[in-house]
Amino acid sequence: MSLQILMESLMWMFLLLVLYPVNTITLNHGKEREVHLKETSEDGLKDLNVSNNWTKCGDNMCKCNEINQAFCLNRGHQLNYIPRFKQNIKYLNFTGNYLPNIDNHTFTNITNFKLNYLHLETNSIRNCTPNAFNHLKYLRTLTIRNSRISRTKLMQCLSGITKDLQTLELAYIFYNYHLNLNLDESLTNSKIKTLTIRGIYMNHYNHSKSSTLKYLQFLTIQKAYLETVTFDYSSVLRKLDFSLNKLIQFPKFCVGENAYFTHLEELRLDHNFISAIHPNQLACMKSLVSFSINNNAIVYIESNTFLGLPKLNIVSITYNSGLKGIRNFAFNSSSLKELYIYDDDLYFDKDHIHNSLDAFKYCYQLEILRVSSNHFNFTTNVMFDELFGNLVNVKSLSLSTCGLTFLPSFIPKYLNKLERLWLHHNNINDLPESYFSNFNYLQNI
Ligand SMILES: *[C@@H]1O[C@H](CO)[C@@H](O)[C@H](O)[C@H]1NC(C)=O
Ligand SMILES: *[C@@H]1O[C@H](CO)[C@@H](O)[C@H](O)[C@H]1NC(C)=O
Ligand SMILES: *[C@@H]1O[C@H](CO)[C@@H](O)[C@H](O)[C@H]1NC(C)=O
Ligand SMILES: *[C@@H]1O[C@H](CO)[C@@H](O)[C@H](O)[C@H]1NC(C)=O
Ligand SMILES: *[C@@H]1O[C@H](CO)[C@@H](O)[C@H](O)[C@H]1NC(C)=O
Ligand SMILES: *[C@@H]1O[C@H](CO)[C@@H](O)[C@H](O)[C@H]1NC(C)=O
Ligand SMILES: *[C@@H]1O[C@H](CO)[C@@H](O)[C@H](O)[C@H]1NC(C)=O
Ligand SMILES: *[C@@H]1O[C@H](CO)[C@@H](O)[C@H](O)[C@H]1NC(C)=O
Repeated sequence: MSLQILMESLMWMFLLLVLYPVNTITLNHGKEREVHLKETSEDGLKDLNVSNNWTKCGDNMCKCNEINQAFCLNRGHQLNYIPRFKQNIKYLNFTGNYLPNIDNHTFTNITNFKLNYLHLETNSIRNCTPNAFNHLKYLRTLTIRNSRISRTKLMQCLSGITKDLQTLELAYIFYNYHLNLNLDESLTNSKIKTLTIRGIYMNHYNHSKSSTLKYLQFLTIQKAYLETVTFDYSSVLRKLDFSLNKLIQFPKFCVGENAYFTHLEELRLDHNFISAIHPNQLACMKSLVSFSINNNAIVYIESNTFLGLPKLNIVSITYNSGLKGIRNFAFNSSSLKELYIYDDDLYFDKDHIHNSLDAFKYCYQLEILRVSSNHFNFTTNVMFDELFGNLVNVKSLSLSTCGLTFLPSFIPKYLNKLERLWLHHNNINDLPESYFSNFNYLQNI
């Protein structure tokens, strides 16, 4: 850029700032990636009201705060029992200690409390008797992480837990056999709403075996090497997350027009090996709001993939580097508001005919579109108009890292509702005069 052009641009930017309601100009390098790939809070700490006002408690081996939370951390063999507490503990995080045998005496010191939340992590648990948890009547959340208890003993142990438990997480429990989950046996009539299984080798999931969990709303099975699943009917399940597994085929959610999960709102299948989705594999899920299948092996996004899903708001298909193309009308939907297809190594130009220039037709409600980190090096203004010209409701658009050499004209021409625009990491070297003069809502560039 010559000095003269630079001065002109600066002058122009100055005028823009004065004349138009632009609050900030932010350079959000790489930010969107963080936002959408972030795993959900692993430890639930975000829900926890942690205070800094700690006092020593539990035979001086734990710390407690004024809202009755106790943390007993990393005392190893020194702490081989659950100690006595002076205050009425409601929340206990017992991590890195030694409880090889859990039985009906183990929790004696806390049975008189209204213990709501128990987190047992890395305590070398080997045995656990069926009546171990019998007396913890107020327990609502239980986490067991990182132990080597056998499947039979684990199932026995779970059978004694109060039926009022709402949240159960089992993570990184190792032994020689697959966890052939048979929750029907051990959790009969439980009111569990949230079940999380993570880092436990499972291979196959059979939902019939959890059919006794009539209140199950949120099911997460991650890092379980799941290859196949069989579902069964539930009208209560609202969220299903099978990310970080080895699924090759899109699971069977639909039997003809009927859905196994009639009220499923959120489906996450990120980080698997699924190569195809056919429209009729989704069409039955009439309550679906959010669908995400990032980092899989999807080859084509077919025409009308999301048709007939009246509540669908969010679709995310990022990091599918084997993606060859998006067919015409792929996102035809009268409800879709957010679409994420960044980092898919897609080419949008006439030499790569697999991506239809009609791919983004018939999704008029779209407000957020991120197509960053794809290839638009040779996409002309005429093609851009064809691709995105009808998306008149878009408020947030990212075309960063797209090989752009010019500012596409469709943005000021059609996207008058734009509030946020990301264009970083491109090769744009010219800002056409008055490019930004038609925006009334633009806040971030
Ligand atoms: C319990 O404490 C351990 C060790 O600090 C921590 O890693 C874990 O996230 C905590 N879990 C919860 C649920 O508070
Ligand atoms: C967090 O702790 C403070 C101080 O004890 C309390 O006033 C507040 O209600 C608590 N918030 C929640 C969500 O528990
Ligand atoms: C901290 O704890 C002490 C003793 O329990 C209490 O007197 C004090 O009010 C607490 N401070 C805060 C900021 O909660
Ligand atoms: C209860 O706590 C006391 C003191 O903290 C300890 O000596 C005792 O072994 C504990 N009881 C059980 C059953 O763990
Ligand atoms: C613990 O269980 C054993 C048998 O499993 C029983 O004999 C004993 O009375 C129980 N103790 C308590 C405190 O519940
Ligand atoms: C799933 O579990 C049900 C009930 O135990 C059983 O009848 C069915 O055969 C199982 N299906 C598969 C594919 O394992
Ligand atoms: C888009 O979806 C509607 C149903 O909502 C359907 O009638 C129409 O044929 C679809 N358009 C195309 C071009 O496939
Ligand atoms: C397209 O643009 C990207 C990013 O600017 C660049 O790395 C790449 O080499 C370009 N490809 C071609 C074929 O020009």
